[in-house]
Amino acid sequence: MQENYLERILKAKVYDVAIESPLEAAPRLSRRLNNHVHFKREDLQPVFSFKIRGAYNKIAQLSPIVAVRGVICASAGNHAQGVALGARTRGISAVIVMPVTTPQIKVQAVADLGGEIVLYGEDYDQAYDHAVELARERGLVFVHPFDDPDVIAGQGTIAMEILRQRHGDEIDAIFVPIGGGGLIAGIAAYVKALYPRIKVIGVQPEDSSGMHDSLRAGRRLALDRVGIFADGVAVRRVGEETFRLAQLYVDEVLLVSTDQICAAIQDIFEDTRSIAEPSGALAVAGIKKYVARENCVDRNLVAINCGANMNFDRLRYVAERADIGAQREALFAVEIPEEQGSFLRFCELLGGHSVTEFNYRFGDERAAQIFVGVALTQGRPESEALIKAIAAAGYTVRDMSDNEIAKLHVRYMVGGQAQGLEHERLYRFEFPERPGALLKFLRAIGSEWNISLFHYRNHGSDYGRVLAGIQVPPATRDEFLAHINELQYAYSEETENPAYRIFLGG
Ligand SMILES: Cc1ncc(COP(=O)(O)O)c(C=O)c1O
Repeated sequence: MQENYLERILKAKVYDVAIESPLEAAPRLSRRLNNHVHFKREDLQPVFSFKIRGAYNKIAQLSPIVAVRGVICASAGNHAQGVALGARTRGISAVIVMPVTTPQIKVQAVADLGGEIVLYGEDYDQAYDHAVELARERGLVFVHPFDDPDVIAGQGTIAMEILRQRHGDEIDAIFVPIGGGGLIAGIAAYVKALYPRIKVIGVQPEDSSGMHDSLRAGRRLALDRVGIFADGVAVRRVGEETFRLAQLYVDEVLLVSTDQICAAIQDIFEDTRSIAEPSGALAVAGIKKYVARENCVDRNLVAINCGANMNFDRLRYVAERADIGAQREALFAVEIPEEQGSFLRFCELLGGHSVTEFNYRFGDERAAQIFVGVALTQGRPESEALIKAIAAAGYTVRDMSDNEIAKLHVRYMVGGQAQGLEHERLYRFEFPERPGALLKFLRAIGSEWNISLFHYRNHGSDYGRVLAGIQVPPATRDEFLAHINELQYAYSEETENPAYRIFLGG
């Protein structure tokens, strides 16, 4: 089977639409990591991602009789643009089914490439089912985003180029983002056929770990929920063929956090002055994690920088989180005695550190809670030393740097605890962001239960994030849970979260 892929990749047709992207040294990151890091610049492709390779190869391999029927796919992202451009290049029609929640900018990009757009369903799964049905009804050829040998072979041409651009003996490892697995399956099948010594290492977000978990389990698992920050790789279930190939050829899959992805976007920017989309920066985040774990030096490590379709308004969020991901900022909750001069004493304790954020409010006559952000120059060891110093000075301190609701919400709403509030429970919700979405969310929660705390901030991402305190008397708890389960918004209960308990909770 491997030989089959080698041949398919060598015979793949991609260069009618794709460029042979450069393999560039990343000098700044290389110096920082004491290794030789190289970026395969797939963000420079005509549609700003590698997806054009697989989509076009699939379309180009269709016989003329089949091709005239036209093609169809379901996608809100890079695959949609790849299929639309591929079909236009081949001179055939393309139908692209996108969820109704797709941001207008992406709809427009596909329309500009001549694709016929069908908006259908609330999410990808519904759009996918509809596309399969339309394909049957209208006799169109379905172009799968990853689980198809021609798509996999198209993506595999990236490995063919890397091994032409740099001799295989000089490469130690290649780091590859994984969504459904088409990209890594193609790359791994090619690399392992020629240089089994080169490590092929997958990278996924911690909250979108389908391939990682499936490989561990030895079978394909469907995730209940996937994080959507790295939207290009937000896939609930990896492909059958891609999973088979990953089992054979992928050495391991690393998981990285949202903050680490944001830090990697900044690293890529510093070396290239280009902005990667979150999925496009996964490989760099993976390299950093790998080097820290292995303590290796002087290795040649290749990152597939696979996409640059970034919404501009998301940059605000990325910049905010990059400092935490790169351990350039720590967030602490500190209790200080409510007495004259103690605020000043605490600030003096922080000494030469630059304070990035400071929220303080009178709590009661005994103690006050402070939410403080501190800039770091030496990462985690520095923040650990600071925690020790604060504790030694007699303050109660907790590290909030990894506390998601502290970072997303509480830092913007430190404002004292509510008195006399009964049965408040705290929930975090996510819902697709579009005009009227917040109102729809509020209506869906209904007026049966009292909302006692609410924070929503548009982070310029595709999903709205709400933190809500809701008074749920014990007698109505089951009914309430049944109700929010029906809403089908992703949610988690955060009533025990220390950020809530300290700054907002009763
Ligand atoms: C930028 C980017 N990176 C990575 C991927 C994941 O590719 P695959 O689904 O083949 O694993 C995608 C998929 O659309 C993508 O758009």
